[in-house]
Amino acid sequence: MFDLIIRRGTVITADSSYLADIAIKDSKIVAISETGILESAKRVIDANGKYVLPGIIDPHCHIHAGVNGIYDTLDFYTASRCAAFGGVTTMLDFSESKKGKSVMEAIKERHEEMKVSVVDYGIHAKFVEANDKIIEEIKDIVAYGCPTFKLFMTYRKSGVMIEDDDILKVMAEAKAQGAMPGFHCESNALVEYCTEKLCQEGNRAWSAFPLSRPNICELEAVNRIVAYAKFMDCPVYIFHLSTGEAKDAVYNAQKAGIKVTAETCPHYLTLTDEVYQTADGHLNMMSPPLRSEKDLNKLWEGLAEGTLTIIGSDNCTFTREIKEQNLEVNEDGSVIPDFTKVISGSCGVEERLALLISEGINKGRITWNQLVRMTSLNPAKTFGLYPQKGAIQVGFDADMVIVDPEKEVTLSDETLHYGIGYTIYQGITPKGWPVMTIRRGDILVEDGEFLGEKGSGQFLHRKLSK
Ligand code: URP
Ligand code: ZN
Ligand code: ZN
Repeated sequence: MFDLIIRRGTVITADSSYLADIAIKDSKIVAISETGILESAKRVIDANGKYVLPGIIDPHCHIHAGVNGIYDTLDFYTASRCAAFGGVTTMLDFSESKKGKSVMEAIKERHEEMKVSVVDYGIHAKFVEANDKIIEEIKDIVAYGCPTFKLFMTYRKSGVMIEDDDILKVMAEAKAQGAMPGFHCESNALVEYCTEKLCQEGNRAWSAFPLSRPNICELEAVNRIVAYAKFMDCPVYIFHLSTGEAKDAVYNAQKAGIKVTAETCPHYLTLTDEVYQTADGHLNMMSPPLRSEKDLNKLWEGLAEGTLTIIGSDNCTFTREIKEQNLEVNEDGSVIPDFTKVISGSCGVEERLALLISEGINKGRITWNQLVRMTSLNPAKTFGLYPQKGAIQVGFDADMVIVDPEKEVTLSDETLHYGIGYTIYQGITPKGWPVMTIRRGDILVEDGEFLGEKGSGQFLHRKLSK
């Protein structure tokens, strides 16, 4: 007897869509057949009229991550609950590495913290420096199942930026050990120059924020990483790409045979820098900033043409109070705008799928099959989760999300589960909503009800394929 049968759903894979029944036993997909043939299961779910997608993988989440000693509100249980509501069955976060600290130690600490997660999880190793000891650790970090890294090319003043000579050392060892470094691409020199100039001019308004990190900051950093990747013959990943120019740079690099994989995020695909003109503009501050309509359209073009292959959320769950906590206030309690003091980052792990359906598929920019590639198959392949995760196929983990393509939900603090008092997507009503999330055969969310068990997520020991 099967544990579960999902009956009569339209199965969406990376390259086809078909009506089928899916049988699950002992956490795996054990049969996929034309409908009505598979019988006898402990539970049968009728997915008639619904779409069945592979569980969504979020390769870029920040949960309870420290920014200068300030932490966001959720832990790995509550954040993974939000993820599950959004159809996410796997999320990748980062080690909380610091200068003078062992990265391996930071990974082990993060692993402990993540054990309360409901969804499966993995860890990217963050490198903020590369002395001999740290470089020696890379072999053990890869053996521990963390073969993907993040290195920041900005945030020098917060001690997070890694120097270029250290970037090259990490690249050399990553290549030797079969790992892939990923980069936050913003030129620190340009960011610091532009920020200081705006401050000297007395312009600290929310609207100055995008001017402090203009498109050229990203383009310069992406070009530098592409040059390093070529010289070192080392595959690289670019996190949260936000501009049309950088998308074109990646396109040209890929055409020239340089191994660059690039991600963008739902906020760059949905919102524009016009929001920084509004009173609540600071709630939308993340790095890189939101860009122009032209950039937004170029990113969709990059996804459709296959230059950008992955969409990560870059989730950071900050309440308004946390975002504003370094700001000074007027006598009436209102904050005095100063973009240099706003805590950077915004949510996305829960609403990512619905936004991509409404902004991408419903507007004709991508297909359902492309969506599956960008949110499931490609992250699984890129981050060493394939063939365990990333597809609806016999033998794979039974990770699936059932989407009701007709269901409309207006995004708000009430309809999302972060509990932070606001959403940057206020009032947007996506059509197409995840109604059931299944992780290794267990139903985590059913019709808006959370059924997951705290700590039932598993650490994913990842290995990159050659
Ligand atoms: O502003 C952002 N994106 N915060 C999260 C950290 C990062 O750079 O990804
Ligand atoms: Zn980043
Ligand atoms: Zn991030």
